[in-house]
Amino acid sequence: TGFVTLDSGFVNTASCTSAVTYIDGDAGILRYRGYPIEQLAASSTFVEVSYLLIYGELPTPAQLADFEDRIRRHTLLHEDLKLFFNGFPRDAHPMPVLSSAVSALSTFYQDSLNPFDAEQVEISTVRLLAKLPTIAAYAYKKSIGQPFLYPDNSLTLVQNFLRMTFGLPAENYEPDPAMVKALDLLFILHADHEQNCSTSTVRLVGSSQANLFASVSAGINALFGPLHGGANQAVLEMLEKIARGDDTADTFMEKVKNKQDGVRLMGFGHRVYKNYDPRAAIIKKTADEILRGVGGTAGDELLEIALRLEEIALSDDYFIERKLYPNVDFYTGLIYKAMGFPTKMFTVLFALGRIPGWIAQWREMIEDKDTKIGRPRQVYIGATERDYVSIGDR
Ligand code: CMC
Repeated sequence: TGFVTLDSGFVNTASCTSAVTYIDGDAGILRYRGYPIEQLAASSTFVEVSYLLIYGELPTPAQLADFEDRIRRHTLLHEDLKLFFNGFPRDAHPMPVLSSAVSALSTFYQDSLNPFDAEQVEISTVRLLAKLPTIAAYAYKKSIGQPFLYPDNSLTLVQNFLRMTFGLPAENYEPDPAMVKALDLLFILHADHEQNCSTSTVRLVGSSQANLFASVSAGINALFGPLHGGANQAVLEMLEKIARGDDTADTFMEKVKNKQDGVRLMGFGHRVYKNYDPRAAIIKKTADEILRGVGGTAGDELLEIALRLEEIALSDDYFIERKLYPNVDFYTGLIYKAMGFPTKMFTVLFALGRIPGWIAQWREMIEDKDTKIGRPRQVYIGATERDYVSIGDR
């Protein structure tokens, strides 16, 4: 009924009101709950930012200590959930493993099914924040054939994740403090980004009153795509291809500009930012020191290629006219690689960072009395009415 407007890709259509994250794409501004991303990156921690996004205010010391304590108490996976990892092929991509395990949380915590039970939503919130790093680490351990490590709850969330990922049972693994700090910073920068594809997916699934685990599992699958979170993996593969000599930076850029075989400069461009992505600015500024600090010179050749690609792009009419700048994914992969993560894990790291944003947005959606089930309209372009022809007459 009435007037339907076509807005493919939701370029101009808002799907909700939100008080979580503010972006001014022309000015390159990003704020969580009003706080500039630059200030949070310089002074906050990932767990504190998670609290801020989910509850709306920065925690007092007592609130933060309580939140950290609750997360620590939920880091273990049910022993039966651990069996899941044996069912997947060893060379499986860890993203579908992650989304499957999150989906499976609904089977282990059946009290979570009612999205309007505030107490259960609170427990599910803490469970997701606490268990996602464990699930991610186990997906990695499985892929390299190493045993799982139980979480060590004397450690912080990021330390614990690194230990479960890179540690061995008989070994006293101590994560490098520079690496802990860098990963914490990257998680802060990924923590929310208003109504992007995965967050909109979380909200759309949740609008049918599906529970938090089902909604977030769907969001993880949306993040997997190369135009979204999968771009960090795609960037590194692009840089490695150039490093191998399949292309030079210049011949590659010619292909991009000629749209040859649909080649894009991965890690560039954004639906909302028509200016430098403020997250990329922070990452680029620190990439050099992080690479030197945690990985020796491991990423340097690729960093040089990335810098060269950016230099070409920022002075080229194709990119200038279309306002294409580096986005968050352009430099992150280099840092993850220097930390020792295989390329396949990059998008999992994005998911670990984005989890508080998905939770905050889902909770805002569920608490909003004006939320309706998400149900876009269409513009029908198919056949007009025609009569059925029996099979013998076709
Ligand atoms: N390389 C080359 N050309 C590009 C690129 C790129 N990375 N991005 C956009 N363009 C061109 C595009 O071909 C189009 O040109 P024309 O007007 O001649 O047809 C114009 O710029 C506008 O692009 P669009 O595809 O209409 O823009 P969009 O808002 O629909 O897409 C995007 C946004 C992020 C999907 C796109 O820029 C892209 O594919 N970038 C590469 C993938 C990437 O880095 N994704 C990560 C995004 S940020 C973090 C996240 O969400 O995970």
